[in-house]
Amino acid sequence: MENINVKFAFDFVERDHDWSTDDLYQCYKNVDDNFWPYILGKYINTPKTQLLPDKPGVKIQHKFHGTTEIKALTQSLYFYQIIKESYKKYGKKPLVDSNLLDFGFGWGRMLRFFYKDMPVSQIFGCDPSDESMSYIEKLHLKGVFKQSEFIPETLPFDESFDLVFSSSVFTHLSEHTHLACLKAIANAMNPGGIAFITVRPPGFKERNKAIIDYLAHYNMESSSPNEDYLFVPNENFIVKGHATYGHAVISKRYIHENWSKYFRVLDAKFQAFDPFQVVLVLEKK
Ligand SMILES: C[S@@+](CC[C@H](N)C(=O)[O-])C[C@H]1O[C@@H](n2cnc3c(N)ncnc32)[C@H](O)[C@@H]1O
Repeated sequence: MENINVKFAFDFVERDHDWSTDDLYQCYKNVDDNFWPYILGKYINTPKTQLLPDKPGVKIQHKFHGTTEIKALTQSLYFYQIIKESYKKYGKKPLVDSNLLDFGFGWGRMLRFFYKDMPVSQIFGCDPSDESMSYIEKLHLKGVFKQSEFIPETLPFDESFDLVFSSSVFTHLSEHTHLACLKAIANAMNPGGIAFITVRPPGFKERNKAIIDYLAHYNMESSSPNEDYLFVPNENFIVKGHATYGHAVISKRYIHENWSKYFRVLDAKFQAFDPFQVVLVLEKK
């Protein structure tokens, strides 16, 4: 995959680029969305490639999201475009003037897409894991980064955010952790701000082996109507006596009962590559 030869395609679609500056937004703002993963993945060189962050090795990519290289980046494009389209529709200000937070940024796969939409000083990321924090330096990520708590009371920023996204994080959290994270995110957002949070809907229970085994072990039915929040813990993640991380499946009723004090649910979007990772589009009350 490293050898994709797309230089010709880039020549063909090239727009006006300003390569005279080191400001990523100014350099890349005219790049076509569909070409951006190839530039971000460094499958072609631009005069400013050296300013873009690196990717981790494929083993790490696989551990974080199960896919690697250009496939992982083109999948991210779905989420990026859902965010941009919905933010244009529902957001209270233009993206370029907004403060953005990637909650649980991992290795920075998602937040780097926004380098062509706004100055890096408006792009924030937090993650509680030491591993993710180590990638800021190792991969030369650009943005403002802080380590958050696994079970946060507040987020570690003074800024408040117009746009928050969290990809493949709430799909893993215990209910206790989920509620703490949701509250901390909501409290860090401006009223009218828009959040994009991916969740696993109930149908995922029949698709995931760890969940199927867990349900069988405890003699539980996958369709139990009382199961509004199913959490299958990964015992390697214990924080203050709580298993915080594993697989989480939540119902629509749970969202309505527990999220509506902070957010209005504006929409739910599918990502074509994984219909079981639904993006909830939320407006901060
Ligand atoms: C599956 S990875 C997704 C990473 C990234 N969002 C992406 O889509 O590439 C899950 C991320 O959630 C982070 N995480 C785990 N527990 C968390 C918590 N309690 N609060 C915020 N992030 C958490 C992990 O450190 C990891 O970076």
